[in-house]
Amino acid sequence: MGFLLLTGASSGVGRELAISLSKEHTIILSGRDEKRLQEVRLLCDNNPFIWNHELNDFDNLENDLKIFLKVNNISVDYFVHCAGVMKILPLRNIKINDLQKIFAVNVYAPAIITKCLCSKKINNGNLKSVVFISSNISNRGAAAFSMYSSSKAALDGLMRSLAVELAPGVRVNSVLPGGMITEMTKELFENPEMLQKFENDYPLGIGKPSDIAPIVEFLLSDKARWITGQQITIDGGRTIDITER
Ligand SMILES: NC(=O)c1ccc[n+]([C@@H]2O[C@H](COP(=O)([O-])OP(=O)(O)OC[C@H]3O[C@@H](n4cnc5c(N)ncnc54)[C@H](OP(=O)(O)O)[C@@H]3O)[C@@H](O)[C@H]2O)c1
Repeated sequence: MGFLLLTGASSGVGRELAISLSKEHTIILSGRDEKRLQEVRLLCDNNPFIWNHELNDFDNLENDLKIFLKVNNISVDYFVHCAGVMKILPLRNIKINDLQKIFAVNVYAPAIITKCLCSKKINNGNLKSVVFISSNISNRGAAAFSMYSSSKAALDGLMRSLAVELAPGVRVNSVLPGGMITEMTKELFENPEMLQKFENDYPLGIGKPSDIAPIVEFLLSDKARWITGQQITIDGGRTIDITER
């Protein structure tokens, strides 16, 4: 039992993580959509807190988190970064502004939040375990996915270096899901041909946001006390399948 900061808690995978992880922890639900955060709060155990923050606003991130923790007298034991943004665009159409927005949420925010939570002054040195929600595209490639895949590869690079730098006090790992139907991907899955392609490409079928919670729970727990710096893929066998089709 401890305090767990969860970004991306208002939707999709984060919503499922909040409900599941709240059985063991007091969750700090973070996102931008206050109404949806309140809805998730009602589904959770252990009276969660809400930290409403725009992660693109990285200039104020450190200070806002510091104030939130101080005002509520909270020291965070576990951090799960689930917030993420994806934009699918061919290279010829990408703009620096899009890249910056994707990297702000997917890479800069988890770096700065982890930094704050490691500070003795801000968080009493309480942090024990961190899980970043990456993607199975982190180690792969796909046309028009260069912005998203490079941000997830950067997130996993951050994870590995932090795992070494913060040991032995803090363990840091990544979970790499495959395709699931959420707000982020619903347009892709609305296309029947794409849906069929996904069905064919996943040996265990398309996953659900709730499939991600057990592995995150395990990585946070003491059962994973000797696991750090790892990418754990959870994608129904998608990335190990080399069957010719
Ligand atoms: N769905 C998939 O197929 C899939 C596959 C692999 C990996 N993932 C990863 O899983 C994670 C969750 O994705 P999801 O599918 O659950 O997507 P989602 O339903 O779109 O949820 C995204 C979450 O990120 C938060 N967020 C986005 N931009 C933000 C910002 N600027 N500031 C603060 N919060 C922000 C959203 O908060 P608000 O709604 O409150 O703005 C929301 O809670 C992401 O990291 C994604 O890359 C998803």
